[in-house]
Amino acid sequence: MSQEQHYTFGVSTRAAERLRSLAAVFAPSTEQLLGSLGKVEAGALDLGCGPGYTTELLQAQLSPAWTLGVDSSEHMLELARARCGPKLDFALHDVSRLPFPAPPAELVYARFLVTHLREPVQLLRAWSTLMQPAGRLVLEETAFMRSEHPAFQHYYAYLAQLQAHYGQNMLVGATLGTLCEAAGQHVLDAGVRVREIPAAQMAALHAANLPTWSQDPYARAAFDAAQLRQLGETLREIAAGAALAPAVSVGMGYVIATARPPALVQG
Ligand SMILES: C[S@@+](CC[C@H](N)C(=O)[O-])C[C@H]1O[C@@H](n2cnc3c(N)ncnc32)[C@H](O)[C@@H]1O
Repeated sequence: MSQEQHYTFGVSTRAAERLRSLAAVFAPSTEQLLGSLGKVEAGALDLGCGPGYTTELLQAQLSPAWTLGVDSSEHMLELARARCGPKLDFALHDVSRLPFPAPPAELVYARFLVTHLREPVQLLRAWSTLMQPAGRLVLEETAFMRSEHPAFQHYYAYLAQLQAHYGQNMLVGATLGTLCEAAGQHVLDAGVRVREIPAAQMAALHAANLPTWSQDPYARAAFDAAQLRQLGETLREIAAGAALAPAVSVGMGYVIATARPPALVQG
């Protein structure tokens, strides 16, 4: 298993800084989801861990015996190690490649990762092999983002087009249960939790992505640079509170799945 993957948001210091804000905005919904999982006694694996914010949440919420964050960016892992210290482990690895540098885990978790991966069903099938027999896979991804403000609407249209070019789905969170079933997994629970997030917070997250696109060959060819600059300015004004916009309605999709039906695990 191996496909060329393209991470649309970059791994620069600016991108890592954006992930700090992202973590603050989405910590409450992730804590709610992890808090519903019950005990995890053995190991937890955090796929696409970035600077380690989700890895820390896994450790804090579930206290597994070991917690390992995996990312394909050495820069992200350096930041994760510096932030989290020796209490958490991190390993450099492309999640689209087997074998993994980890023993089978009781919990395999990923947030905001599947949206950046092409051919997700093939990957999910491979990730089944990362779990202990009764282990669970837990995924969180965006299912929808809705705003009445044109700047957000334009940004979402650009992002959907850019990700589609790389074979990715901006709103993959809406289909997580279906994808897991297509990968032969057994879905224990799947759904979408809706949150109204202040426009300033969302605008700051989106504005921080635009400079990354100026390095992207497809975005440079397909998008009008002047329009992107104008969009960046408007998003920064909203982020700074200099322009007003209504809250953005964000649907966070989640799935909790096992590699095979629980009856087969027990039998
Ligand atoms: C949007 S960030 C999410 C970070 C973290 N999960 C969170 O929610 O805060 C996506 C992360 O996935 C990593 N990533 C993207 N493609 C990857 C791949 N093929 N293998 C491993 N990591 C990957 C990126 O380097 C980045 O750190």
